[in-house]
Amino acid sequence: MKIPGYALLDSGNGQRLEQFGDKTLVRPSTLCLWKPRQAKALWDKAQASYNHDKGWKFNGPRFEEWTFGSSSFQLRLRTQDNGQVGFFPEHATYMPQVEQLVKSYTKTLGRAPRVLNLFAYTGMASVVCLKAGAHVTHVDLAKKALDWASANFELNAIPASSLRLIREDAADFVHREIRRDKKYDLIISDPPSFSRIAANKTWQLDDVIVPMLEATTKLLESNMSALFFTCHHAELSGPIAANLLLDLTSGMKAEIANTPLAIPEADSPRSLPAGSLVTCRIG
Ligand SMILES: C[S@@+](CC[C@H](N)C(=O)[O-])C[C@H]1O[C@@H](n2cnc3c(N)ncnc32)[C@H](O)[C@@H]1O
Repeated sequence: MKIPGYALLDSGNGQRLEQFGDKTLVRPSTLCLWKPRQAKALWDKAQASYNHDKGWKFNGPRFEEWTFGSSSFQLRLRTQDNGQVGFFPEHATYMPQVEQLVKSYTKTLGRAPRVLNLFAYTGMASVVCLKAGAHVTHVDLAKKALDWASANFELNAIPASSLRLIREDAADFVHREIRRDKKYDLIISDPPSFSRIAANKTWQLDDVIVPMLEATTKLLESNMSALFFTCHHAELSGPIAANLLLDLTSGMKAEIANTPLAIPEADSPRSLPAGSLVTCRIG
């Protein structure tokens, strides 16, 4: 499955060589235990490389921001101090499914589908849904992530009227939405393994996954809706979330599927494992 605008050009020796639009970067990856397949000359051409101790090193002019994307979304990317750039390619692999679902719900429902994007980060999934015709509630705890997502909404000319931006703990937000009797047609949720909400308030996914999934499924429209839930935890993997969802939807017409997420390498039989996607389709 190709990711428009992005390619994992090569990987190996603990590193990945990736192309994001017109920028090629080398970043560390502990999973890449194998050998690179491409010539060293290709790696040497990368415009920047990241090292955990030394940060970013530029091969030519220094850059901090650039734009990348496809017809479904445009994103401003940044060379951040932690080596991340504001885009996780594994999440782009299921965006065509999300886009398709929003379009088909719009047709069937005769209105804009209501989408809830939890742990929404720089807003790729929100942009895809908004551009496909949805109303989106975009939730993230970090002001920096919300500001970055807002810049991406502007870049994609998204009207403010179809968007609700919420800065809150997603676990608290879903419980509050239940009390307000809110329902969504599509929920996208990508929880981290650990979250620090305040100096004295943290949660581990192990401790909150059951109430979080329980609350999230209560927000789904009972006639027709879908949940896209991703897992990056070593033990709380896709099959566990899928088993929980089977319990939570028992007695309902629901289809649950667990699919491994992976980043395909260009011109290579290899792919880089990147967690799991658990989908729950109701109706
Ligand atoms: C790995 S990113 C999600 C990436 C996203 N799926 C994408 O493809 O762009 C995790 C996000 O969760 C947010 N986050 C962490 N703890 C949170 C919490 N308790 N409630 C809401 N957001 C939280 C972080 O600020 C970060 O933006």
